[in-house]
Amino acid sequence: MRTAALVAALAITAAAAPPAVAQAPDGAAAYAEACASCHRTPARFMRRYLDMTPEQRQAELDRFLVGHHAPDAAKRAAIVAWLEANHTRR
Ligand code: HEC
Repeated sequence: MRTAALVAALAITAAAAPPAVAQAPDGAAAYAEACASCHRTPARFMRRYLDMTPEQRQAELDRFLVGHHAPDAAKRAAIVAWLEANHTRR
């Protein structure tokens, strides 16, 4: 009996845990796959975006990347979010 209760408790815990696989594409991984072969790091190309507001920058990057190696909307959004979070400081 006690074992059954323990098993049930564990099953509930496991079911409540977040899924192990990410739902949205990972920006760092998408960058590595789509961009890193030509841009080892984003540092250089991000310089010209640093003086923009976050809204302007994200809109500009999104617009540019549609025709520049990131046609997939979900991956593009993940890359833009990753750039914003990690590569907007001088
Ligand atoms: C096949 C090589 C290649 C790949 C892959 C590539 N780029 Fe580029 N990218 C370039 C080159 C070359 C330039 C410089 C073009 C220029 O000077 O106008 C550039 C320029 C840029 C710029 C600057 C645009 C500007 O107006 O100055 C950004 C931002 C950029 N790339 C982001 C990315 C991102 C993000 C990815 C991945 C989704 C990516 N690139 C993939 C070759 C590449």
